[in-house]
Amino acid sequence: MQIGAAPLVGLDVGTSALRAARVSSSRGGSQLAAFAQIPLPVGAVVDGQIQDHEVVSDAISRLWKRSKLGSDKVVVGLANHRVVVRQVELPYLEEKELRDSIRFQAADHVPMPADEAEFDFDILGEFTNDDGDRMMNVLLVAAATEMVEGFVDTVQSAGLDVAGVDLSPFAVARAISPEARGEVGGAGAQAIVDVGAGVTDILIHVGGEPRFVRILLIGGDGITSALARELDLSLEQAEALKFDLSKGVSDADAYDIVAREVDVLVEEIRGSIDYYTTREKGEEVSSVLLTGGGSLSQGLLQKLELGLQTKVELAAPLAGVRTKLTSEIQKQVEPVVGTAMGLSMWEARR
Ligand SMILES: Nc1ncnc2c1ncn2[C@@H]1O[C@H](COP(=O)(O)OP(=O)(O)OP(=O)(O)O)[C@@H](O)[C@H]1O
Ligand SMILES: [Mg+2]
Repeated sequence: MQIGAAPLVGLDVGTSALRAARVSSSRGGSQLAAFAQIPLPVGAVVDGQIQDHEVVSDAISRLWKRSKLGSDKVVVGLANHRVVVRQVELPYLEEKELRDSIRFQAADHVPMPADEAEFDFDILGEFTNDDGDRMMNVLLVAAATEMVEGFVDTVQSAGLDVAGVDLSPFAVARAISPEARGEVGGAGAQAIVDVGAGVTDILIHVGGEPRFVRILLIGGDGITSALARELDLSLEQAEALKFDLSKGVSDADAYDIVAREVDVLVEEIRGSIDYYTTREKGEEVSSVLLTGGGSLSQGLLQKLELGLQTKVELAAPLAGVRTKLTSEIQKQVEPVVGTAMGLSMWEARR
């Protein structure tokens, strides 16, 4: 970061809450210089998309007014079905040439009109094909322009300055992957799974380099809805019951419903990871880092370990990070702070 440049605040627009974080890094290590969150009403953000721009914009204004975030310069995250991430093979080009022609190069590879999309990419490597042509593997990101502009407009109408827009799973990886944290990662591929309220993101990386992203429109709220529907409870009552269960309170009927819904989550996550290893012939996934509020769902971690036959750990984005938050608050926010932290660290992106 340039000396004197305004620090960036990461803004995570989640289904259940808005979260803002500012991470500052110095030779002494990283510090969570500011963090704040505010709940969002049901329906404001659905399937990772902003449905009610006014409600979200007002909530952002309130969050900035009542918390000392230290900057109005924001990087906002998004993950929904109007973004696609694909690994594609393209004829070899220098990075600059590819940047200049990305819309044209990408057109055949994404299921949306190229003139209505924003593109980004990451060159993964090069190879020679059977015809002897020099080719390259590229991780291509395409997002519907209209949807991206919706996020930008909402943040701007709250009086903030949008410095960047990023894919939430990239941000999470920046905050929690061992490589990004300066630690030594394991061999093979690692899956980073963020189970939210309505969206579950899966990012597979090898040595810190993203190879695969899948955005699933499922999450912890599916469990709450099933409890509410089947036990004839309000959503608030069902949510409270779900939290009690994950604290160890027993209730046989509720336990069965949660177990069934958690199995659905596990199967969906497993399906995506299988797709990467079999259809895309990716490396074996040898570890999983789990984050997001939904990661606390009763039995999820254990069932994922069994289903994937892999070590699964809860991510610890605050480990080794200086913060003024009390240890009690740290424990509460640790599962949900990764995205906002990673967005704030946007300048460290590859
Ligand atoms: N202790 C807990 N036990 C069980 N579930 C929990 C617990 N804490 C949070 N959750 C669930 O986690 C979900 C919220 O997760 P999170 O805050 O990561 O989502 P979000 O970022 O708001 O939404 P999304 O990322 O899906 O847009 C909710 O479904 C909530 O019920
Ligand atoms: Mg989230």
